[in-house]
Amino acid sequence: MTLSTAQIRQTFIDFFAKQGHQPVSSSSLIPHGDPTLLFTNAGMNQFKDTFLGTEKRAYTRAVSSQRCVRAGGKHNDLENVGYTARHHTFFEMLGNFSFGDYFKREAIQFAWRFLTEELKLPKEKLLVTVYSEDDEAFSIWENDIGVPAEKIIRISTSDNFWSMGDTGPCGPCSEIFYDHGEHIWGGPPGSPEEDGDRFIEIWNLVFMQFNRQADGEMLPLPKPSIDTGMGLERISAILQNVHSNYEIDLFQALIKSAAVIVGTQDLEDKSLRVIADHIRSCCFLICDGAMPSNEGRGYVLRRIIRRAVRHGYKLGANEIFFYRLVDTLCEQMGEFYPELREQKAVLEKVLKVEEEQFSRTLARGMTLLSEALEDIEGTVVPGEIVFKLYDTYGFPADLTNDVAREKGFTIDESGFEACMQQQRERAQKSSQFGADYGASVQLDSETVFTGYDATEQQSTVVALVLNGKPVETVNDAKDVLIVLDSTPFYAESGGQVGDTGSISGENATATIGDTLKMGASFAHKAEVVGTLSVGDHVSASIDSFQRQAIKLNHSATHLLHAALRKVLGEHVTQKGSLVDAEKLRFDFSHMEAVSHNQLHTIEAMVNQQIRANHSLTTKLMNIDEAKASGAMALFGEKYDDEVRVVTMGDFSTELCGGTHVASTGEIGTFKIVSESGIASGIRRIEAITGEAAVEFMQHQQLKLAELATLLKADPAALPERVKALQTSIKELEKQNQQMQQKLNSQQGQDLLNSAVSINGVSVLITEMQGVEAKSLRNILDDLKNRIGSGVVCIGVASDEKVNLIAGVTKDLTDKVKAGELINHVASQVGGKGGGRPDMAQAGGSQPENLAKALDSVNTWLQERL
Ligand code: ALA
Repeated sequence: MTLSTAQIRQTFIDFFAKQGHQPVSSSSLIPHGDPTLLFTNAGMNQFKDTFLGTEKRAYTRAVSSQRCVRAGGKHNDLENVGYTARHHTFFEMLGNFSFGDYFKREAIQFAWRFLTEELKLPKEKLLVTVYSEDDEAFSIWENDIGVPAEKIIRISTSDNFWSMGDTGPCGPCSEIFYDHGEHIWGGPPGSPEEDGDRFIEIWNLVFMQFNRQADGEMLPLPKPSIDTGMGLERISAILQNVHSNYEIDLFQALIKSAAVIVGTQDLEDKSLRVIADHIRSCCFLICDGAMPSNEGRGYVLRRIIRRAVRHGYKLGANEIFFYRLVDTLCEQMGEFYPELREQKAVLEKVLKVEEEQFSRTLARGMTLLSEALEDIEGTVVPGEIVFKLYDTYGFPADLTNDVAREKGFTIDESGFEACMQQQRERAQKSSQFGADYGASVQLDSETVFTGYDATEQQSTVVALVLNGKPVETVNDAKDVLIVLDSTPFYAESGGQVGDTGSISGENATATIGDTLKMGASFAHKAEVVGTLSVGDHVSASIDSFQRQAIKLNHSATHLLHAALRKVLGEHVTQKGSLVDAEKLRFDFSHMEAVSHNQLHTIEAMVNQQIRANHSLTTKLMNIDEAKASGAMALFGEKYDDEVRVVTMGDFSTELCGGTHVASTGEIGTFKIVSESGIASGIRRIEAITGEAAVEFMQHQQLKLAELATLLKADPAALPERVKALQTSIKELEKQNQQMQQKLNSQQGQDLLNSAVSINGVSVLITEMQGVEAKSLRNILDDLKNRIGSGVVCIGVASDEKVNLIAGVTKDLTDKVKAGELINHVASQVGGKGGGRPDMAQAGGSQPENLAKALDSVNTWLQERL
């Protein structure tokens, strides 16, 4: 029986669970709190601190199937996707881990047993590599496992020394290869033909021993550990007897559905592979909180989406298509990753909007590029063209490269970079960041937080930072960071702002304006008066009034989150949150504006839960236990093994480290003050609680009363009253318009009465007052209509200038041209004009000469009519 990809994943997890490994869920693709990493790119990322020994877990063995993205950053495969059988932007890495538990021997034995006994791969098809200096690993493979020496290859390059990034955990590794058979070209690792497809690496066993420093120094890890990684798609290809990863069940389903959607028959087309690969990375990245944008992670996401869209277009797609694959992806992967199903609507919306935006410029950009490719001498596309495509048409450079490559060209990357650099310099001139005064200091003490219960605390100063440097003493100074061994001050995190208050010692008092986390320490941002030294005993006390207001807002945020999911649906997930003393702000995924009715229901539901006065319970539990209990956790957030779960009745259960009310009744009142959209698919609600909510409503009430007095109506009757007013205003406006028309017509008639006859032709030459230039056209047209056959010329003089207009009815234009007439007048008032034979306009600068100029028209016309 052939195992499906989903079954293979489960078999792996079950096998290692039986060997005492804790199954751990995949962490988010957006690494939390690790600035060295763009995306999660290996199973070990979430265990980095555990390897380094700075984070303790309740277990020493773990197993996971980790979603990974290798696009941008140290491990980047984006440009190869579509061109090879095995490169992906997104893939799943199966891994077993030991944190100072077992080491090389067991790791090798486990891997061998899993492949040859559990999956029953033929031993003769396998061969292995070891790091050239690793005699121990060589001997285990040869003597313990019985792999013949000629099938154990020593490799001296970095291929067999794995590191997560330029810094961090690393060590020598041993890789297991599968021989796909003689009929495929390629040689064993280390041979000149190793790049062929015959011998494929399936599993990498890393013997974690060092922590690489930025300067290259290798410090030993506290305990030797194991990190392994096996690409799920590769092992599935072997077990499903296919050669390319794209032929496994999961990819075939995506490829078939992409073919139907874009309307192509050729399932072998590499563009289909690109699309099938990219829909996975895009959806998981969005699920984990990324949004297409022009920088950082968001830009990588945008690049992947645009690359997929371009390939669809190439296959003949003629309408927005990429989002339609979300369905198939959910069918294929939604079982193991329920978040895909929960966020389906958001995924579709985001992909659709991005494609719509890009499709507007795609065709024009492609034309420009094709033309450029025809004109280029040689095979390199100049950097300026790559930049223009990027800047004007939204073509990421790798997309241009992709198109160029198909036609045998490469792009001038450094030329493009130079253009980008110039653009950055232009942009940077306007933004100078102030130095973040504490950021460069490493603090290693762990602060004990006592503020869940206490508002005041006796404590000891363990560190002081001034101007970015640790100091022993400060004297009358601003912008000081104070670190205490324990503190009741909450440090900003999870959206809740840091506490304010004061810290006082024998010789100093410090006003605390904010509190933030620096590693495991809490740093109090202070202005110190007096002398404060490391080692001083102090009393730390928070502004409890402010804290109380923050608590109300934080607890209300949980109720709001739960109510949103109940009223709008389970797809609602938190995208951002800010809780301070004034208000709460909650951003969440939802595709359209929340209607008034829905807002009303949500607000009422939250207030109902406040009145229910649930006691809050907080419990510490294991992360997986917490998720199993239905606690809402955030994707993209890294949680410790032990998490704090905050529950309010049966209404809300959330993972949260923040400070909360003792029972929901304390919140008093909850009032939504605004709802708006902040990005495609993301809405924002702002709300207030407690006293602020009551004051807000009182204020509204007052305004209502004022209105009622002004409109002389009972507040309840105000809507009717305003409607009646609106109707009567409309009626008046209509009447006004009619009157205006009558008036105009009367004036026109009066003017017409002053017309004279020259050689039998009606001629109206007049000066008007206070008419704006833009109304002259209408007046002239009206007069021409009334006059039927004749010549009209109007001048308007204001302080410094003259406006002139002249019209000649069509039947007379061969005798008199309006353009000539207007020039005749304009030349006498310091101006010039022009226009058609039947209508012309002009300006002038000598109003004092207007009357005389208009007088001269009579004679001028007599010569012509
Ligand atoms: N961390 C190792 C890898 O990614 C297993 O290959």
